[in-house]
Amino acid sequence: MTTLKHIAIILDGNGRWAKAHGYPRTQGHLVGTDNVRNIAVAANDEGIKVMTVYAFSTENWKRSKDEVDYLMKLPFLFFNKFMKELMEKNIKITMIGEMEDIPKDTAKVLQKAIDQTSNNTGMILNFAMNYGSRREIINGFNKFLDEYKKDESLKLTEDNFNNYLYTNELPEVDLMIRTSGEQRISNFLLWQLAYSELMFVDVAWPEFTPKMLKECIEAFEKRDRRFGGV
Ligand code: IPE
Ligand code: IPE
Ligand code: MG
Repeated sequence: MTTLKHIAIILDGNGRWAKAHGYPRTQGHLVGTDNVRNIAVAANDEGIKVMTVYAFSTENWKRSKDEVDYLMKLPFLFFNKFMKELMEKNIKITMIGEMEDIPKDTAKVLQKAIDQTSNNTGMILNFAMNYGSRREIINGFNKFLDEYKKDESLKLTEDNFNNYLYTNELPEVDLMIRTSGEQRISNFLLWQLAYSELMFVDVAWPEFTPKMLKECIEAFEKRDRRFGGV
């Protein structure tokens, strides 16, 4: 069993994977969605407590309407197919991001999955949906300001700022993995990744296997995390 509590994944490369195989981009998203199940089950088996997956960013609205519409359908497919198994494995679904701007029927499906699994005590599978880290930070600061207006003795600190973020109930991110070979953060967990270990894997998300996850975990265990000390 690993010491790793929280793993965050930028699941990237669905579109390029599809193109390389002669499929439309949507097929990459469909296969990628099934792979969220595979990797979540593997992470749960490894004893990981929280797996956060970046499923849709605040910038992804820029994509074609057809692609956005398809991406918004994926939660239906995912939970229809896998809810029974998630319950059996005691996996709890949570979400970070702005629910408000998500189409109503998609938001309803997400909320239903969150409610249905809310008493599960196993791994948390946390979806970053309509998530943007800059927005999260600004929203958090504004939340603080609202409280401050009522009580000017309040102070915002490095220690309490997390209380104002979407991740307030989650442990620190130990490891962030991005697939597809891109080496950037793309507005994901900017505050939370301050001392996370980062891994950039050269395969597209649909090809990322439980074995690769295991290799990442093993590599993580060998890293020397110093947090600024010696
Ligand atoms: C990741 O795959 C999934 C989402 C961002 C929703 P992409 O769709 O970004 O795939 P590429 O990067 O274009 O290959
Ligand atoms: C990041 O991937 C967002 C998600 C995986 C949901 P993108 O494919 O949107 O990121 P960029 O555009 O390559 O930075
Ligand atoms: Mg991409």
